[in-house]
Amino acid sequence: MRQHVNPLSVLYQQPLALPSPQELFVHPSLPLHLDIGAARGRFLLAMAERYPDRNHLGVEIRRPLVVAAEADRQAAGHTNLRYLFCNASLNLVQWLQDLPPGLLQLVTLQFPDPWFKSRHHKRRVLQPALLHSLALALPPQGTLLMQSDVLAVIEPMVAQVEASGCFERPCSDPVPWLAANPLAVPTERERLVLAQGLPVYRVRYHRHHGPVPALAEPQATHNPCVATRA
Ligand SMILES: C[S@@+](CC[C@H](N)C(=O)[O-])C[C@H]1O[C@@H](n2cnc3c(N)ncnc32)[C@H](O)[C@@H]1O
Repeated sequence: MRQHVNPLSVLYQQPLALPSPQELFVHPSLPLHLDIGAARGRFLLAMAERYPDRNHLGVEIRRPLVVAAEADRQAAGHTNLRYLFCNASLNLVQWLQDLPPGLLQLVTLQFPDPWFKSRHHKRRVLQPALLHSLALALPPQGTLLMQSDVLAVIEPMVAQVEASGCFERPCSDPVPWLAANPLAVPTERERLVLAQGLPVYRVRYHRHHGPVPALAEPQATHNPCVATRA
């Protein structure tokens, strides 16, 4: 297993002005799929082929993976696919708010780094400010798909999404978990877990029509108590 990157490290606290869809894609008005924690990018490469009528953006905190994924993308010649380096918990918040209304249709957050220790939970990618921005950016019926092989990771994510008051599960989906990936494209981690015969916990939410409540507490976008090592 690779060493996790600590997103609270000073190395990842720089503000980043991420490019707009107009700068990223040849057809920027296509529905947008955002994959948070895209890693080496193979899931999104397959998604770009399977769903050519969408743009797909993968964001990843490990720069070498972004460079390698972008090289594959260029070799494949896909114009509906891009990968960007960023700290999703920090750098996506403003970018999501600047998106044209209705553009974002699908967000995937799959097998996030677990950060098991309680004192490390603040390093988990789904923080309140990010979820709030996703709720604001997703239009009614926009989809949030989350997967993990760790119950102790996905259960708090589910609790957070449900407490936000902005999402509901499709009536047709079984509770608590989907039996299969509704996108029919497995991620790299998903393949590994399934090959070991281990369970995968999946849940899908749709943005409902209601307004997005204000964040309970203002979330600082810069953490003054950053760690000094990655
Ligand atoms: C366990 S891997 C899963 C990768 C992929 N989604 C899959 O299912 O195969 C989690 C990925 O999220 C990335 N990641 C963790 N925190 C992040 C953050 N704050 N911003 C962007 N990417 C992050 C990690 O570097 C890693 O590549």
